[in-house]
Amino acid sequence: MGLTKDFFIMLSQNKALNSGAKRWGLKLGAQSVVAGTNIEEMIASVKELNAQGISATIDNLGEFVFEESEALKAKEEILNVIGAIHAHDIAAHISLKPTQLGLDIDYDFCLDNLREIVAKAHAYDVFVNFDTEDYGHLQPTFDLLDDLSKDYDNVGTVIQAYFYESERNIEKYKDYRLRIVKGAYKEPEDLAYQDKKEIDRNYIKLIEYHLLYGKFTSIATHDHRVIDHVKRFVREHNIPKDKFEFQMLYGFRRELQIKLAQEGFNFCTYVPFGEDWFGYFMRRLAERPQNLNLVTKQVFNKKTNTLIGVGVAAFLLGRLSKRNK
Ligand code: FDA
Repeated sequence: MGLTKDFFIMLSQNKALNSGAKRWGLKLGAQSVVAGTNIEEMIASVKELNAQGISATIDNLGEFVFEESEALKAKEEILNVIGAIHAHDIAAHISLKPTQLGLDIDYDFCLDNLREIVAKAHAYDVFVNFDTEDYGHLQPTFDLLDDLSKDYDNVGTVIQAYFYESERNIEKYKDYRLRIVKGAYKEPEDLAYQDKKEIDRNYIKLIEYHLLYGKFTSIATHDHRVIDHVKRFVREHNIPKDKFEFQMLYGFRRELQIKLAQEGFNFCTYVPFGEDWFGYFMRRLAERPQNLNLVTKQVFNKKTNTLIGVGVAAFLLGRLSKRNK
């Protein structure tokens, strides 16, 4: 399992594969978890969700950008998405990754890009969530949030339960709207819990804290045990339904998403779209190798999952080297 996870995380960060995949269109089953490559396709998907009583947080896919021109392009695309949310009057907000807007190039450059996005979103009453990425970008993401919240109140971020320091961070940032997740990147032992049980324990602790003492809480998980626990907890503590929502990723556990919305809970689906789908898709495979079913439509055991993973990589590398020839 660990091997498979490490392997897909490694693929998710491979620059050549990430940029190669942009040219292929949605492949390998990514179309079941990515809502199209353009705004029109994404809007159609969000309208379908809205019709089922589900709102959306829209991620114009992209991350680990190192060229100013790419970051500026991403900014324009996100501004267009905000315009489309307003024009189509859909129930949706924005999720973005600070590295997509130039955090690795220069903090102030990234801040300026985000300021433009947050200002337009504010004018249209659209919330903007800063996704959290790997540890090296964690504190700068909180700093961006603090800087922008001096002028705008439509911003929030994510707390990852695998970090030891998240307990301290959730207290420090409790006055923000926060999404709470287990954590999707590979982090070392000196920074983060490695054991699933320990991560789950910390996850519940952080959710309970923010539900009791924080602003609005987004509980982002596909884990039915956590969801059942939260349902019990909010009932026992009389926490009103307008103080929290459940979130899941587009294409995952669709029936459960609809069921929770039908039970009267606020439900928000994370809707990724765009050409830059590779890193996102590989992280989903790293989290749950069974997601390979999306690729193969078959059920595999752990050993064959690893083999399939190698096959996927060989296929990708093969495609890339052919193109480069
Ligand atoms: P996990 O993968 O631990 O699974 C627990 C159990 O749930 C499984 O054993 C199984 O029983 C069940 N289960 C899970 N998936 C299932 C499926 N597809 N079908 C059936 N059963 C299933 N990460 C990050 O670092 N930064 C971020 O900003 C975000 N943002 C984000 C937004 C949203 C909306 C979501 C849902 C997730 C994120 N994440 C994230 C990713 C997150 O950190 C985490 O890696 C994944 O959600 C996987 O963990 P889960 O809590 O879903 O359950």
